[in-house]
Amino acid sequence: MLRPQLLRQATRALSSKAPRSSFRATQPAVSTVRNFSRTPYRFDKEPSRGGIDAATTAGEPGESGDHEGQYARTDKSVRVEYPGEEDLPSSRPVQGRGGFHFKRTLASFSLEDRVGVITGGARGLGLVMSQALVASGADVAIVDLNKEEAQRSAIGLVETFKEENPGADKLPKVTAHFADVSSPTSVNQAVTEILKEHGKIDNLVTSAGFTENYDAISYPHDRMQKLWGVNVDGTYLFAVAVAKHLMERQSAGSIVFIGSMSGAIVNVPQPQAPYNAAKAAVRHLAASLAVEWAHAGIRVNCISPGYMLTALTKEILDDNPDLQKKWTSLIPQGKMGRPEDLMGAVTFLASDASGYVTGADLRVDGGYTIT
Ligand SMILES: NC(=O)c1ccc[n+]([C@@H]2O[C@H](COP(=O)([O-])OP(=O)(O)OC[C@H]3O[C@@H](n4cnc5c(N)ncnc54)[C@H](O)[C@@H]3O)[C@@H](O)[C@H]2O)c1
Repeated sequence: MLRPQLLRQATRALSSKAPRSSFRATQPAVSTVRNFSRTPYRFDKEPSRGGIDAATTAGEPGESGDHEGQYARTDKSVRVEYPGEEDLPSSRPVQGRGGFHFKRTLASFSLEDRVGVITGGARGLGLVMSQALVASGADVAIVDLNKEEAQRSAIGLVETFKEENPGADKLPKVTAHFADVSSPTSVNQAVTEILKEHGKIDNLVTSAGFTENYDAISYPHDRMQKLWGVNVDGTYLFAVAVAKHLMERQSAGSIVFIGSMSGAIVNVPQPQAPYNAAKAAVRHLAASLAVEWAHAGIRVNCISPGYMLTALTKEILDDNPDLQKKWTSLIPQGKMGRPEDLMGAVTFLASDASGYVTGADLRVDGGYTIT
């Protein structure tokens, strides 16, 4: 269960009137004494004459109406905790996205003879991106905290491939591996196991990660450390382990980090400051490692998805239709994405089609971050 009381609280908060601002002008820069008076000091402030003036900095907060800042503020009553492993819903491979076809396309998009590793590949976006690599010709190693779920997903991927490619003479090899990506020991063990099974790694996609909604003042420190541990340390540790292997093998490779549009903008209304900062770190880690490893032919890019409808987000939104309306009203395309909307992006960045692309951030967000 995704804490239904929290979700109800969120719904109430969203359907209520927009909160009036508690913002007050800052202290003048020349002040040497901190003034904690509740009456704000307004620097050179002309009194508002009403009308359009009330909508400028001459007006008092809320003077021109309750709508001030309505679509640009977080609401601390929106709180969603990432569920425990036992409460995470399963995902299924998508149908009708693979199989033989007779449309001409560039050969450079093919991943034939490549081995791809996807962290967090048992579910959600990671599972469908694994499917994209399989459909494009790669063998795949799924890495997840939940090995049983990863095994079910690995079997599901091969079954879907068989359905969509009847008579295929070669089946993809898809394996499942345990790792807690935030632990260096666990990451190194998983990489050793993958190399034993597949012999090599050419591509890495880091999809293990999660978000939680808490206002910053209330976020428990241990939960924040876990969030950063999985999203940031986990991305870094796996990238380093795979890059080390590629350098030892003296082979080129492509690494794709899954960031988020939250690494570039601040989502509203749900508060999630540590997640936003973590995804900004992931994006800049991609750019930094791209520079550091370019000499070895290793490309590192980031995909920053917008709001995507996975089994998990569906559970949240089913209980919370107001949140769905709020989100889609802020997306120029007017729709949330589906996991399959990442299939082309990940294949492009993993393949030779993107040979001269490194350190880039590819936003797949329906235009959210450009408005
Ligand atoms: N769903 C969205 O709308 C959305 C939008 C932008 C970015 N993202 C990012 O995409 C990635 C995938 O998200 P999702 O929606 O598919 O989530 P999800 O919860 O459906 O899947 C995440 C997977 O990661 C695994 N995982 C969690 N902690 C782990 C750990 N310590 N070690 C190994 N595996 C671990 C989980 O078991 C799960 O299978 C995340 O990094 C997320 O932040 C998601």
